[in-house]
Amino acid sequence: MKSFHLTVTALCCVVVVLGVLPLSLDAQLDPSFYRDTCPRVHSIVREVVRNVSKKDPRMLASLIRLHFHDCFVQGCDASVLLNNTATIESEQQALPNNNSLRGLDVVNDIKTAVEKACPGVVSCADILTLASEISSVLGGGPDWKVPLGRRDSLTANRNLANQNLPAPFFNLSRLKSAFAVQGLDTTDLVALSGAHTFGRAHCNFILDRLYNFSGTGKPDPTLDTTYLQQLRQICPNGGPNNLVNFDPVTPDKIDRVYFSNLQVKKGLLQSDQELFSTPGADTIPIVNRFSSDQKVFFDAFEASMIKMGNIGVLTGKKGEIRKHCNFVNKKSVEVDIASVASEESSTEGMVTSI
Ligand code: HEM
Ligand SMILES: *[C@@H]1O[C@H](CO)[C@@H](O)[C@H](O)[C@H]1NC(C)=O
Ligand SMILES: *[C@@H]1O[C@H](CO)[C@@H](O)[C@H](O)[C@H]1NC(C)=O
Ligand SMILES: *[C@@H]1O[C@H](CO)[C@@H](O)[C@H](O)[C@H]1NC(C)=O
Ligand SMILES: *[C@@H]1O[C@H](CO)[C@@H](O)[C@H](O)[C@H]1NC(C)=O
Ligand SMILES: *[C@@H]1O[C@H](CO)[C@@H](O)[C@H](O)[C@H]1NC(C)=O
Repeated sequence: MKSFHLTVTALCCVVVVLGVLPLSLDAQLDPSFYRDTCPRVHSIVREVVRNVSKKDPRMLASLIRLHFHDCFVQGCDASVLLNNTATIESEQQALPNNNSLRGLDVVNDIKTAVEKACPGVVSCADILTLASEISSVLGGGPDWKVPLGRRDSLTANRNLANQNLPAPFFNLSRLKSAFAVQGLDTTDLVALSGAHTFGRAHCNFILDRLYNFSGTGKPDPTLDTTYLQQLRQICPNGGPNNLVNFDPVTPDKIDRVYFSNLQVKKGLLQSDQELFSTPGADTIPIVNRFSSDQKVFFDAFEASMIKMGNIGVLTGKKGEIRKHCNFVNKKSVEVDIASVASEESSTEGMVTSI
């Protein structure tokens, strides 16, 4: 009777330890997550990104945007990397992504290098996050300890990408709500918009501002007139869909100039200029603070990047570690059938050759 009671108690403890403890640990990302399983992961990612950025400095911006477009759609789970298949409708053809995402091949190069050192260990979602911090540093921005331990999704969601990713013609209230949906506040909105301190945009996204703003037949009044003329040169009405620098002053550097541009009506997208030109907005003093002190901007950028990197992450046993970032892993049943089939055919081959 007593031993029965002890057994029950012991069983209860096992259940508690196995059931509750891992759950509470699961939810946490940890900068030292790969300390034992892939200690060199940061330097491996850095080497690939550094190599690519020497030939293509814009790639740093493209990689940060890829992480943003991942996190805003069912969390930072590398869903954006999944290609179209019979069961996956890729996010890459969602309106904000189509013909605009860059860096997918670079992520695959990183994954190949990481898999060589530590096979089956590092998620594609963590690679996107690491590549973003590294891109910040190589672009002259802040560095930070990157919380790690994300796992990769088994699904993608194109509709959610169309729904959740903010558009360049959004006014301030729509920008705020797009960020609020992700648990990001007004300071996060302003700090993360600071990523538009580098990289390029297609002319299509600003043509209305240059030639016919909100159907007025006139340009956007919140656009500096000299800058307007410069942009019209690069983006002729009805001309080719050229690329234009986000920051006309320091186009490939992460710095506070993005915010001083806004102060002189030189924000590229409407969504950029809204942060400073919306009358009475609470974002104006934040822009002013970031513009006057780069350290204040960098600290905020770092905090908001970490916050964005925590959105909807899969941890513990959720999701998987993809072998190839563009595809979910084969189900074990399929793998079994495939390996059995190849064993059979190789045995047959041996028999006939003897
Ligand atoms: C606030 C709402 C935002 C809107 C409306 C927006 C919109 C856009 C648009 C339209 C482009 C140009 C794409 C193209 O022409 O191909 C772009 C580029 C870019 N975005 Fe955003 N974005 C926003 C927030 C963010 C955030 C939060 C980040 C990262 C933290 C980010 C990082 C970038 C970067 C780095 C580029 C340049 C990419 C390149 O050169 O390849 N954006 N964004
Ligand atoms: C980076 O470039 C260096 C110098 O060209 C080369 O030796 C190295 O193998 C490259 N590394 C990767 C990961 O591509
Ligand atoms: C995945 O799709 C992209 C286009 O979205 C394409 O460039 C790439 O080659 C595809 N990757 C693979 C491995 O099929
Ligand atoms: C994506 O862009 C291509 C042109 O490059 C176009 O043919 C296709 O219809 C677009 N897809 C979507 C879903 O809009
Ligand atoms: C912002 O845009 C939305 C949707 O177009 C509109 O309903 C709202 O009134 C606008 N807000 C402001 C402050 O202009
Ligand atoms: C501006 O856009 C409006 C509404 O889309 C249109 O009716 C008007 O003809 C356009 N004006 C010019 C000058 O293109």
